[in-house]
Amino acid sequence: MSAIEGKTIWITGASSGIGEALARRLAEHNNFVIISSRGRESLLDVQKVAPTRIRVLPCDVSDDAGMDRAGRELAELTDHLDMVVACAGTCEYDDGLKLDSASYRRVFDANFFGAINTLRQALPLLSQSKAPVFAGVGSLSSVVGFPRAEAYGASKAALGYFLDALRADVSRTCLKVVHIRPGFIDTPLTERNDFDMPFLMTPEEAAACIEKGLLQGKSTIDFPRRLSWPLRFFGFFRWLWFRFSAPRMTRIQSLSARQ
Ligand SMILES: NC(=O)c1ccc[n+]([C@@H]2O[C@H](COP(=O)([O-])OP(=O)(O)OC[C@H]3O[C@@H](n4cnc5c(N)ncnc54)[C@H](OP(=O)(O)O)[C@@H]3O)[C@@H](O)[C@H]2O)c1
Repeated sequence: MSAIEGKTIWITGASSGIGEALARRLAEHNNFVIISSRGRESLLDVQKVAPTRIRVLPCDVSDDAGMDRAGRELAELTDHLDMVVACAGTCEYDDGLKLDSASYRRVFDANFFGAINTLRQALPLLSQSKAPVFAGVGSLSSVVGFPRAEAYGASKAALGYFLDALRADVSRTCLKVVHIRPGFIDTPLTERNDFDMPFLMTPEEAAACIEKGLLQGKSTIDFPRRLSWPLRFFGFFRWLWFRFSAPRMTRIQSLSARQ
């Protein structure tokens, strides 16, 4: 099979970037796709590409009570889910090591607790499928410690551990758990990045890599390889990363004059 076809799929974070590209691609391949994000209008725009195959379900994944309501609406849209892609996420950098806990909480609320809220609502419907898949979108940035990414990278590393623990917990069931770790993708999220983003990909290329990895039954989908391999190497030889790469990237010159 060269494409995912005929499945019922819920994608969060599908109003822009990677989630939108994946939703469009899967809808083109005759899947029934339920798309979520906070903004209804942008979801309705995405729905226009395939009005009969795409349904919108606006929700804030970080809002526990709101997600319970979304779960009830989800159950009205479908009696089962074959696949869920928890893609909703945000990024805030810690410039100058301010350690602003409110910023860290916002990032964790969307990237970590958002995925948990999504799974909580999806699980009863996933259990109605013969071969259900739950995929969480992490990031290659969690492989090693990146300067300024204390909040973002930690939230994605926490998500990675959550997915591993979940995989262990459901290892005697039919639920497949997938960890998707993209490199740099050209989306609204990375628009504000003021540093070099090696091997930058389009959201459409990212969506193609995700679909291919899912079709191949991978548990971890890392891309692009040109970035994931060097990062995994540094993840293994961590001292090299902290001795040579990190000092070139950090903007902090002294602890007393952080900027
Ligand atoms: N771009 C990259 O280089 C890159 C690399 C690695 C991983 N990722 C991950 O890929 C995922 C998608 O990112 P992207 O690059 O495609 O960014 P994006 O274009 O900014 O998309 C983020 C999506 O998440 C939604 N969202 C954000 N907070 C939400 C919340 N609390 N509840 C519901 N929806 C929410 C946004 O819609 P609303 O604002 O309307 O809610 C939007 O649809 C994120 O998890 C990101 O961390 C991105």
